[in-house]
Amino acid sequence: NWTMLNIVEEQVAQVRERVGSARVICALSGGVDSAVAAALVQRAVGEQLTCVFVDHGLLRKGEAEQVQKDFVAATGVDLKVVDAERRFLDALAGVSDPEEKRKIIGREFIRVFEQAAREVVEAADAGGEPVEFLVQGTLYPDVVESGGGSGTANIKSHHNVGGLPDDLEFQLVEPLRALFKDEVRRVGEELGLPPEIVWRQPFPGPGLGIRIIGEVTAERLEILREADAIARAELTRAGLDRDIWQCPVVLLADVRSVGVQGDGRTYGHPIVLRPVSSEDAMTADWSRLPYDVLATISNRITNEVRAVNRVVLDVTSKPPGTIEWE
Ligand code: XMP
Repeated sequence: NWTMLNIVEEQVAQVRERVGSARVICALSGGVDSAVAAALVQRAVGEQLTCVFVDHGLLRKGEAEQVQKDFVAATGVDLKVVDAERRFLDALAGVSDPEEKRKIIGREFIRVFEQAAREVVEAADAGGEPVEFLVQGTLYPDVVESGGGSGTANIKSHHNVGGLPDDLEFQLVEPLRALFKDEVRRVGEELGLPPEIVWRQPFPGPGLGIRIIGEVTAERLEILREADAIARAELTRAGLDRDIWQCPVVLLADVRSVGVQGDGRTYGHPIVLRPVSSEDAMTADWSRLPYDVLATISNRITNEVRAVNRVVLDVTSKPPGTIEWE
């Protein structure tokens, strides 16, 4: 693709010139924007870039592996993975309030990323060139929304990285600042990223933490992860991925209902399917998915996920409902 090739070459040249021989750091979230931004910077400055992936344990099945294996295989990027699941779960223990969960996840994310960034900076200092740049997957709509100023010392990453302390100062590299989402995907394809990363549907920074209604525990995450993986697999198999905006799968962890399975009574949890169609997530309509696809998802989840004995469909538009349940 001509235009995309031009954009890639132009941005690669610009990044190379701006960065020189300095070192660069990037926080990968598993999302499209940070992945494409990192791949582009990698193309420009290679080993000068270190990516940090904070695994908060709230990702969906296979997503952490996707970053650690597929992304690295496609780009050859130097990746530092921080396994922080225990830390996030400890911080979330006993918390059910949605806003409280978001705050805790955001706060812990900054702390873990900060520590990892410090380690990257120290390692680089020992090796010679200082770390001077932080890559951000800022898109054009984000630029417009935030008033258009170009960031330098003030760090604001995707929704999760609020700010870094004063003694960690970076200049921002934002190679996607002129692009819309669909262009970013095409740039990602041009850079050879796998379709599962490039065509990934939106997924909130706080992850499954805000799709468990009630306290977040390792056991509940496991239940939701299995149910979500089934729903995603069946939507993909039915060829519906690009027809819907996203399909949150939600575990009503504090609700139980009676069911019957085999020759026994069960007392399990409901799973909610929330497929939506949207242009920009500001408004949304519930997706009229084919009944047979819904039936397959329901059958598989109730058969294969032990703690779940009921699957319900959310038929609310936005407004009045938000896309996520929390
Ligand atoms: P709502 O639930 O507000 O969601 O209708 C709109 C879109 O935003 C995503 N979302 C988030 N993304 N951090 C994120 O990065 C968040 O805290 C967050 N909350 C919601 C949601 O998945 C939907 O695409």
